[in-house]
Amino acid sequence: MDSDDIILSLQQVSKIYTSGLIKVTKTTAVNDISFDIKKGEILSLVGESGSGKSTIANMILRILDSTSGRIFVSGTEISEYSLNDYYNQVQMVFQDPFSSFNYFFKVDRVLNQAVDFHFGKKISKGERLKKIQDSLKLVSLNPDEVLGRYPHQLSGGQLQRFLLARILIIEPKILIADEPTSMVDACARAEILNLLKRLRKEIDISIVFITHDIGQAQFISDRVIVMENGFLVEQGPTKQVFLNPQHKYTQNLLASVPSLYRKWNS
Ligand SMILES: Nc1ncnc2c1ncn2[C@@H]1O[C@H](COP(=O)(O)OP(=O)(O)OP(=O)(O)O)[C@@H](O)[C@H]1O
Ligand SMILES: [Mg+2]
Repeated sequence: MDSDDIILSLQQVSKIYTSGLIKVTKTTAVNDISFDIKKGEILSLVGESGSGKSTIANMILRILDSTSGRIFVSGTEISEYSLNDYYNQVQMVFQDPFSSFNYFFKVDRVLNQAVDFHFGKKISKGERLKKIQDSLKLVSLNPDEVLGRYPHQLSGGQLQRFLLARILIIEPKILIADEPTSMVDACARAEILNLLKRLRKEIDISIVFITHDIGQAQFISDRVIVMENGFLVEQGPTKQVFLNPQHKYTQNLLASVPSLYRKWNS
């Protein structure tokens, strides 16, 4: 891999949580993890519940500090960027679409803020509306149907697509998508996965896609990282990892999706 292409790099990153008041417990949620992702690449992080996927996401997003190790975006350690500069480059979509919206404001606010954030307040009213409408059309939402509504007046799938329209306005280099489809129905799930693929095509974005669903990882990613109890147990090109899993844990994960496994092996 040409090192110029590497957009995100984690180097020996660990996270130990400390909890409890009387009896202090330490949980090593992420244990000495290193991986790179290059421009325009979709990387899936797979692993069962509690394996440390969201902890990794939250450290990349600067929501959590790592206990040790270093994280670089475009060759610069993430703490060196101002938060504004950082979130112009790194954006997120989470599991619960409703949590990303404020119930008291119309959904438009999310896109207006994205325009302000990315272009400053100087953009004309007409240009602003055009950017918002274009981004909504790109995620197959009808601006006339969704603008002016409150979050509870849209479905979970529509809200997730709305958030992807926001990503199209900001045009970050990296998108962290933490289980973005687990709270929507199968139809909306397929739409979101296809949209993520389209986003990569349209703006050459790199995506860290977090899931415990092997089928989704197989569908969307170029490369896969398999996590178990905070450890990275296996990584490689998606086909290689899923067709010829080396680690017992990956083999067990795959055995729990027999139909996919059978299809690929037939
Ligand atoms: N704030 C916290 N304090 C203490 N322990 C935590 C905290 N957050 C997470 N953990 C623990 O760290 C480990 C990893 O959690 P994490 O949320 O990263 O897993 P995950 O792979 O995202 O799981 P899921 O698939 O359920 O979302 C788990 O053992 C969890 O209980
Ligand atoms: Mg999680």
